[in-house]
Amino acid sequence: MNEKINILEQKKAEALLGGGQKRIDAQHKKGKLTARERIHFLMDEGSFEEIGMMVQHRSNDFGLDREKYLGDGVVTGYGTINGRLTYVFSQDFTVIGGSLSETHAEKICKIMDLAMKNGAPLIGLNDSGGARIQEGVVSLGGYADIFYRNVRSSGVIPQLSAIMGPCAGGAVYSPAITDFILMVENTSYMFVTGPNVVKTVTHEEVTSEELGGAMTHASKSGVTHFACANELEAINYLKQLLSYVPQNCEEDAPALPYTAGNESREELNSIIPDNANQPYDIREVIEKVIDVDTFFEVHKHFAENIVVGFARLAGRSIGIVANQPAVLAGVLDIHSSTKAARFVRFCDSFNIPLLVFEDVPGFLPGTDQEWNAIITNGAKLLYAFSEATVPRITVITRKAYGGAYDVMNSKHIGADMNYAWPSAEIAVMGAKGAAEIIFKNEIAASADKEGKWKEKEAEYQTMFANPYRAAERGFIDEVIEPKETRIKLIKAFKMLENKVDKLPKKKHGNIPL
Ligand code: HXC
Repeated sequence: MNEKINILEQKKAEALLGGGQKRIDAQHKKGKLTARERIHFLMDEGSFEEIGMMVQHRSNDFGLDREKYLGDGVVTGYGTINGRLTYVFSQDFTVIGGSLSETHAEKICKIMDLAMKNGAPLIGLNDSGGARIQEGVVSLGGYADIFYRNVRSSGVIPQLSAIMGPCAGGAVYSPAITDFILMVENTSYMFVTGPNVVKTVTHEEVTSEELGGAMTHASKSGVTHFACANELEAINYLKQLLSYVPQNCEEDAPALPYTAGNESREELNSIIPDNANQPYDIREVIEKVIDVDTFFEVHKHFAENIVVGFARLAGRSIGIVANQPAVLAGVLDIHSSTKAARFVRFCDSFNIPLLVFEDVPGFLPGTDQEWNAIITNGAKLLYAFSEATVPRITVITRKAYGGAYDVMNSKHIGADMNYAWPSAEIAVMGAKGAAEIIFKNEIAASADKEGKWKEKEAEYQTMFANPYRAAERGFIDEVIEPKETRIKLIKAFKMLENKVDKLPKKKHGNIPL
């Protein structure tokens, strides 16, 4: 027996070395951790159980029969993160560049199936040269097997993807289907085709970082939700993210203990500038309303005119969507609409109540927006809110103009409680534009056109630039002093704790994609 145990030990030791010490050293030299080191930092100490350590590929083509490694380039298994069951796969770049073979894909699929059956999150740590070129179509098939499972798991279990190295070709599509992507600055890339192919096809000269680096995707394309300074920060973000979400769509997110105290926030009474056109940072409002230091912002560098993220209110996890008056006056455009819509849908999939702070002058006009389909893209946000069945509350801090009033979680599209601060202005459009249209003839006939316009603008402003017209109709449930916001929200979310709201029976809706 001892001899047999020795063989097992030897095999395990061999598997732990992946592609060998030389390649491990090369990985470290690039400032990257190995697949196993990443798992070590991610999972609770001693909790990780590996599955499929002895798996080897079956290919004999192009000399692959001489290149066999135990585990075949991916470490898969389960363990706990902050005591909660989590499944993980971690690609090992030291083994044939972490490329995806048929067996490598089978290992990932096995973990995905277990995660689904047992209702626990799946984390993918990606570091791969893509399809194992020597294997041809079986590798492509392996990717498709993963994509299929990603889609089937979507909305059932949370799926998180950390990109820790190259991620090229079709390999980008599995992360793209998952709920959140994290990238590491300077060491991770995502692109459908790399700089060389780009140069051949379009004659553009571009570096990997410019084309598909972390900040590119965090700020320009919005493909990644987080750009992390290094791998340890990415791992830390993964843990934080998981702390706000439930294990699966049947459960609630974990709540932290909370002791009620003085919930009044006097500072909020002076946060809105006297001049309605002056910006302020909505993050200051968020920070003052939620539990201290619990805001975990998502998509921070993308479409900064809207702010989204997780937070805690009286210990409970909530999702926040807030117009940002400090950027483009908080206007809704294509990117901010899609950014918010995706976040709303994530929260709704996983029973996370939604809190909306609204200060929006409307949708952004112009050919750029129209030609790139602001209509279809704005409709995504309208659709996402209307479809959401989780508790939903809106606080209008200042402007709620035009279609954007309807879209931003208005009563009419199913919000449960709608509050407005006394500074709220709820109208079809700003007073200046409104006066120009409805008093056009009167202004034209006046000897003092400018004066007349100003007079009519003031008239419209007085009549509509307040929350009371909407409150008269019941579109606003209560006009509150800003300092009371936290108190009101804690009570209202508690009141909505057992909300039951179901969509009509259907196969699935047809969100305007
Ligand atoms: C087989 C691969 C590989 C791959 C890398 N390697 N990618 N082997 N299939 N896809 C091997 C290399 O030959 C090398 O082996 C080792 O991994 C490390 O790679 P290096 O090139 O030395 O590393 P580096 O310089 O860091 O470059 C990393 C890289 C580059 C940028 C990822 O390797 C690269 O461009 N690889 C090919 C990327 C690609 O085109 N993939 C296919 C995409 S198409 P040795 O023995 O020398 O150490 C695709 C289709 C999926 O994925 C479609 C699904 C729908």
